[in-house]
Amino acid sequence: MGMKHPFQIQSLAQYQAACTAAAENPEAFWAGVAENFRWKRKWDKVLDWNFDEPRIEWFKGAQLNITENCLDRHLDARGDQPALIFEPNDPSDPARVLSYRELHVKVMQFAQVLKNNGVQKGDRVCLYMGMIPELAIAVLACARIGAVHSVVFGGFSAQSIADRINDAQAKLVVTCDGAYRGAKVIPLKSVVDDAVTMCPSVEKVIVSTHTRTPVSMIKGRDLWWEDEIKRVESMGNPYVEAESMDAEDMLFILYTSGSTGKPKGVVHTCAGYMIWTTYTFVNAFQYQPGQVHFCTADIGWITGHSYLIYGPLSAGATTLMFEGVPTWPDAGRFWDIVDRHHVNILYTAPTAIRSLMGFGEEPLRGKKLDSLKVLGTVGEPINEEAWNWYNTHIGKGKCPIVDTWWQTETGGILITNLAGVTPAKATFATLPMPGVEPLLVDEQGTEIHGNGVSGNLCIRKPWPGMLRTTYGDHERCRQTYFSTYPGLYFTGDGCLRDEDGHYRITGRVDDVLNVSGHRIGTAEVENALNMHAGVVESAVVGFPHDIKGQGIYAYVVYQGFHEDENLTRQDILATVSRVIGPIAKPDQIQFVSGLPKTRSGKIMRRILRKIAEGDTSNLGDTTTLLDPSVVDEIAAGRAT
Ligand code: WTA
Repeated sequence: MGMKHPFQIQSLAQYQAACTAAAENPEAFWAGVAENFRWKRKWDKVLDWNFDEPRIEWFKGAQLNITENCLDRHLDARGDQPALIFEPNDPSDPARVLSYRELHVKVMQFAQVLKNNGVQKGDRVCLYMGMIPELAIAVLACARIGAVHSVVFGGFSAQSIADRINDAQAKLVVTCDGAYRGAKVIPLKSVVDDAVTMCPSVEKVIVSTHTRTPVSMIKGRDLWWEDEIKRVESMGNPYVEAESMDAEDMLFILYTSGSTGKPKGVVHTCAGYMIWTTYTFVNAFQYQPGQVHFCTADIGWITGHSYLIYGPLSAGATTLMFEGVPTWPDAGRFWDIVDRHHVNILYTAPTAIRSLMGFGEEPLRGKKLDSLKVLGTVGEPINEEAWNWYNTHIGKGKCPIVDTWWQTETGGILITNLAGVTPAKATFATLPMPGVEPLLVDEQGTEIHGNGVSGNLCIRKPWPGMLRTTYGDHERCRQTYFSTYPGLYFTGDGCLRDEDGHYRITGRVDDVLNVSGHRIGTAEVENALNMHAGVVESAVVGFPHDIKGQGIYAYVVYQGFHEDENLTRQDILATVSRVIGPIAKPDQIQFVSGLPKTRSGKIMRRILRKIAEGDTSNLGDTTTLLDPSVVDEIAAGRAT
């Protein structure tokens, strides 16, 4: 206790020194950090890269296994320390605590189960599970044997799962009978059943028992998690050697939305990702040995991968995993958990803060919250009101708040203040991590120098945790991230750099929406809408939403109304749920007779965005439109 990590930055001067060192000699800097990990073989070369291809190679020639770093290396010093605390959906059910030693055993058991079922190094495994310890165990078990995990968020539809399984050609799926979400039970296995009928690559489905939701087990394909574990136990729990992985071997695929209708499989590799998640975890949150870290994100998203599993475990922390929702059985659930488990670091999303803020101070009554040391936010810009509420009511004015900006593609945090070490500023992510060189460019790609300026956010050089490719389609990776501004990684975000040189992310500048911190492509939602039999055409834009940050607004050209318009709306929503999942359901559907298009057929989204935002006063130049009158009709019929 009290001892700092060897690479922990402890003062502003040290932060500046680290930035200088990482900029001047990145290879020496990151080799120094890498010395604090367990390697099976050291690297031949720290960094080799070329953004034009792109080719990004860190620690080439090194061999390692991330689970040895997350588990084995902690056994001597902290084998009995809790590694994972599981807080179930229902507060009257007991929490489960797994020490590092216990988690190590469970990971090896399930690794053996995967092996028994034919999974080998390099094979893809799809995990579609609720937020239970078995999900974390399955993730680590894949990593143990070098299988590539692809976690699919439990809110996605059968079709979305099938698309992801087929893209990755996964041969095994791990799921649960069901998952709890507050008062609801989600029948996960039944969704998987619908998905797998569309997936010829899947040979086995392993089902963990959780909710006792009835499931149909298919002979020869479906197996119970518990039975498989018993088989392994009856053979005396074999020690499962951690597979030797090359630094640049694939660790996982995580699908995320972009500008096109098809989600892309972001690929992260073993060594760089491990170093980045650990380094950023320790430094952003100023983690101290023995602390309890509560990341409220679902493991189905990158935040759960990096700051619920890999970063904290590699740093030897106690990570807390919560199954439910922040508002059930009441809006004091998070605060309850903080007190019950003496949480020191709380990492959540602005949307959760805004939603809880709406319940006032009553749910905070009787909550001590005195174990908290550091607060964090991620996923979307945080508004000042939410920041102040978080600071005053949760942090009691004495916990630094880190506003961490990053993306699925970046693997871990790129821009943030370091808790209590570098200055915080409400609504600003502030300054880059050492080794990260942000820059702003205009539409033409010309760099915008100086302070007090805005532009599109790019990153100049590689950092260890960045994506390496998009699965099965390297050209797509190049086009999406490295071709808009040649020689730079383009984030897709707009950004302001203030007079002090602090960065504030202002939101996406592409066709990606951020709804309650979930990334959703407008094209994906349009594809789903267009699948409904009556929908002729549609256009989707975002609009400001008090709780969700952004809401989804759909303009729909519909043919053949024969009943109540609202029933038609519900049918359309059901279609989107079926195709993508409930998270992509539009908040507003406006039926229109046509969409505003240029003579070349391009939809003028700028106009649709303005109308959705409620700003119909100045719609700009509409003279280039094929039919300018449609704009007046749309503006007049705005859904509220
Ligand atoms: C947005 C989540 C403002 C941003 C880790 C980014 C943020 C997208 C912040 C990535 C923040 C994330 N402030 N905006 N602190 N953090 N974003 O891939 O638009 O789910 O591009 O990764 O979320 O979302 P993703």
